[in-house]
Amino acid sequence: MAARGEFSSRTAFVLAASGSAIGLGNIWGFPIKVASNGGGAFVFTYIVLTFILAYPILMAELVIGRHAKADTVKSMLSISGPKTRGLGALTGYWGMMTASLILSFYAIVAGWMMSHAVGSLSSLLGLPDSWFVAESMGRSIAFCALFFTLTIGIVSSGVASGIEKWSTRLMPVLILLIISLIIYIATLPGASQGWAIYLQPDFSKVTEPDLVLDALSQAFFSLSLGVGTMMVYGSYISKSENLPKLGATVAAMDIGIAVLAGMLVIPAMYVAQHNGVVIYDESGNLIESGRLIFNVLPSLFETMGAAGNTVSFLFFVLMSIAALTSSISMLEVPVAYANDSLGVSRKKSAWLVGLAIFAFSLLIIFNMGWLFDGVVNFATQFSEPFIGILFCFFVGWVWKRDKLLGELKEGKPDMEETFFWKVWPAYVRFVCPVIVLALLVRSFDLVELLNRFFN
Ligand code: PFF
Repeated sequence: MAARGEFSSRTAFVLAASGSAIGLGNIWGFPIKVASNGGGAFVFTYIVLTFILAYPILMAELVIGRHAKADTVKSMLSISGPKTRGLGALTGYWGMMTASLILSFYAIVAGWMMSHAVGSLSSLLGLPDSWFVAESMGRSIAFCALFFTLTIGIVSSGVASGIEKWSTRLMPVLILLIISLIIYIATLPGASQGWAIYLQPDFSKVTEPDLVLDALSQAFFSLSLGVGTMMVYGSYISKSENLPKLGATVAAMDIGIAVLAGMLVIPAMYVAQHNGVVIYDESGNLIESGRLIFNVLPSLFETMGAAGNTVSFLFFVLMSIAALTSSISMLEVPVAYANDSLGVSRKKSAWLVGLAIFAFSLLIIFNMGWLFDGVVNFATQFSEPFIGILFCFFVGWVWKRDKLLGELKEGKPDMEETFFWKVWPAYVRFVCPVIVLALLVRSFDLVELLNRFFN
C-alpha cells in the first residue's frame, strides 16, 4: 500500500485545519447567533468557551490522531485498553458516520451558495439569473452534485496534492475577500448601527443559560469537533511539531474569522434594514437564518446599484470557498478509513464514499420537509457532543498518562514544564465531559422534562 500522506509543513496543517474549522458555521451561523443573542456579549462568551472548552477537546483529537497516524477507528483502537476496545472502535465508526451525515446536508447548503455565486455572475454578464437564485429541486440537485464533484476531486488527489494544495490556495483568498467586503460594507449608510450592536455587548445576557449553551455548541461545530476530522488531520502532522501550539493557532484562526464575519454580516444586515428590507419580525425577533442569507442579503445587494452584482458574487464565492475547505475535511474521515483500514485506493474510496454520501443528500433533498432538520439536529446537537465526551473519556481515563505525555513530548521535549501539561490532562478528565454533558442535556430539553416532572 502507498505510504500514508503527511502535510508538508506546519503552515500547511494550520491552513488545512483552519479551512476545516472555518466554514458556513463561522460566516453564516456565528453572525446570526450574535445578532440574536445580545451582540458582543455572545462574542465574548464564544471566545472564552472556545479556549476553555473547545480547544482542550481539539487537542484530544489531534494528539490521538498524531499518535496513531491512522484513521479514526484504528486511532481509537490504538489507545484503547483490553476492556475498552469495543467502545473505542464504536467511537471511531460513529465519528465517521457523523462526518458523513454532516457532509450530506452541508453540501446541499453549499450548493445553494454556489448557485447564488453563479447567479450573480450571470447577472453581472447581463444574462438571466432567475433559475440560479430561485428555490427548486433541480437547482439543489445540480449544485449539490457540482459541489460533491469538487470535494471528491480534491480529496481523491491526496493529502499533500489535494487537501493541502487547495487549502493553501483558497484560505488566503477567503481572508482577502472577507476583509475587502467588510471595508466596502462599512462605508454604506446604516452600517454603523450594526457595528454599534456588535461592539457594545449587553453583558446582562452573559449569564443567560441559552446564550452560554448556544455559544458552546457553536464553538463545537465551528472547530469541527466530535467527528474525527481533527483526529484524521492530526494523523498527517509530523512528529516533530509542537501540538498544543498548532492547535491554539487553529482555534485562534477560527475565532478570528468568525469575528471578522460578524463585522461583515451584522453591518450588512443593518444596511439592508436602512434600505427598507425587513430583518426583524413583528415580535422583534431576527428573521429565520435561511431567509437572512438567501433573501435579505440578496435584497441588500439589489439596492446597491451597479456594485450589487459584484458584491453579491464575491460574498457567495466567499461562502462557497469556506464550505469547500470544510467539506473536504469531512469526506476525508471515511476516505481515510477505507484507505487505511480496508486498503482501498484513495481515488476509489473518495469516489465511492463521496457518491454514497451524495445519494444520501439526494434523499434529503427529496424529503426536505422533515429529513433536513432531523439530520442536522441528530449530527450536530447529539452526535458531535456525545463523541466529544467519548474522546475526553479515552484521553482522560483510558490512555496511559505516560504514553500521552510521550506523544506530546515528541514535538516538545520539555512538555512537562508547560502550563498546558499542568492543566490539560485533568481538564479533559473532569471539566470537559461535565460541561459537554450539560450541553447534551439541554439539547434534549431534559431539564425541562425534569422540571415538569418535579413541578
Ligand atoms: N467547522 C465547520 C463550520 O464551521 O462550518 C463545520 C464542520 C466541518 C463540522 C467539518 C464538522 C466537520 F467535520
